Amino acid sequence: MDSIIITIVISLLFALTLLQTIFFSSRKNKKNLPPGPTPFPIIGNLHQVGSQPHKSFTKLGKIYGPIIRLELGRVTTIVISSPSIAKEILQKQDPIFSAVRGVPDAMHASNHFKYSAVWIPANSHWRSLRKILATNIFSNSRLEANQHLRFKKVQELIAFCGKSCENGSSIKIGEAVFRTSLNLLSNTIFSTDFADYYSTKATEFKDAVWNIVLNTTKPNMVDFFPILRKIDPQGIRRRCSGEFKKVLKIMDGLISERLEQRKANGRRSEDVLDEFLNYIEDHPGEIDFYHMKHTILDLFIAGTDTTSSSTEWGMAELMRHPDIMKKAKCELEDVIGKGKTITENDVARLPYLRCIVKEILRIHPGGPFLVPRKPTEDVVVHGYTIPKDSNVLISTWALGRDPSLWQNPLEFRPERFENSEVDVRGHNFELIPFGAGRRICPGMPLALKMIPLMLGSLINTFNWTMAPGMIPEDINMEEEVGLTIQMAHSPLLVPLPL
Ligand code: HEM
Repeated sequence: MDSIIITIVISLLFALTLLQTIFFSSRKNKKNLPPGPTPFPIIGNLHQVGSQPHKSFTKLGKIYGPIIRLELGRVTTIVISSPSIAKEILQKQDPIFSAVRGVPDAMHASNHFKYSAVWIPANSHWRSLRKILATNIFSNSRLEANQHLRFKKVQELIAFCGKSCENGSSIKIGEAVFRTSLNLLSNTIFSTDFADYYSTKATEFKDAVWNIVLNTTKPNMVDFFPILRKIDPQGIRRRCSGEFKKVLKIMDGLISERLEQRKANGRRSEDVLDEFLNYIEDHPGEIDFYHMKHTILDLFIAGTDTTSSSTEWGMAELMRHPDIMKKAKCELEDVIGKGKTITENDVARLPYLRCIVKEILRIHPGGPFLVPRKPTEDVVVHGYTIPKDSNVLISTWALGRDPSLWQNPLEFRPERFENSEVDVRGHNFELIPFGAGRRICPGMPLALKMIPLMLGSLINTFNWTMAPGMIPEDINMEEEVGLTIQMAHSPLLVPLPL
């Protein structure tokens, strides 16, 4: 039965694509579109995407230039890999490019895309959500007010590593820092833990969020042939709907509990949930509970893996570069004291640690591309027309590894930032791991506290060695790409006493 449906779908697709191709090709040819490889009928350039699109697109960029056009099925995709063009899009033409996101079909599940700050158009709801995130949640003063929560969570990571240190066992460092990142966020958002170091049993929430991420990163025919949306041939949206329902149910429970507490004890301002509830109460009609819940869910999706992967890549790089590890430890010893506990406020006094974090984000950016943008009109960039509604991908990965921008770009060398003004905060377009413009990552201030805090605490509390039988050169730096770029093989490390 399934094969009959697929055959019918493919035949329909073929006929429609052929008609559309004939109808539109004459119109497209009149525009000066960016260069790119010749598309095949129906599939376009899909055969050139490969399993690691960021690498395939970078290779194509070397042939066709820093702005290329690919026809991925029926979706015109523009890939940018130059700082000046990224600047034109993210700064000069930002209103045209930042208004609408290219939304993967998986995000249509449970109408997620209609409510979350990540996916909704830059309308009045989005402005309110960004205002809450910038002022009530991620502002310096707010982050400072709940830094004790994060401090405690990092101390739990250290205690967990301390147990391995006592019995000489190894730690899958990626998993450990993932749990810390999840608890850092769940405490910042709900004042509760979502992960447990001592049990492999994942919480229902974490599992469901993880399944949403897995489904979202699977290649989905609907994203290339939107005409298939209603059919959802791979069932990705259906599966995501189930997972969204689970997560939203858990959130409903937490929210009801909090509303009860507020009834009994009055308002408070201790975590993200409090801030959202206060804002909704104070600004009736601006955003509703759907916006709050779907945005909170995306804070977990956007903020957990990104932060833990950066820390994991950082530990791997430090193990492979003992000279850099030694220099970082010396700085910590001089400024904080050997084995002493680090706080978020200390990071301002640790310039070398900050250079390490920039170098991690340059060579291993959280995601391969910025979140897709769709221009709301035809727009000329760098002399080429980017058609309205095309999917625009800015490759942070290609920018960070471009030899014309960075000396020996594949070398991990934090010193390159020592006497440099280049920063990750969206002003230097060769280094934009958090994006830039109106849709820059609102969680950046939190991430820039969490990564150095976790990394600095790990290396100031222990000496690190490889699991028995391994040497640092054995660390496999292969990438696994989904929404984020993770280590395909998390290194096994052993903490030793200082
Ligand atoms: C958006 C990177 C951590 C929440 C983004 C974007 C990038 C990014 C590249 C898209 C920006 C653009 O399109 O211009 C990162 C990296 C992180 C990180 C590399 C850590 C290493 C976080 C954290 C949170 C967060 C900790 C919150 C808890 C968001 C949200 C958006 C976003 C809500 C959507 C913004 C919008 O569309 O208006 N992030 N992020 N991120 N990030 Fe992050």
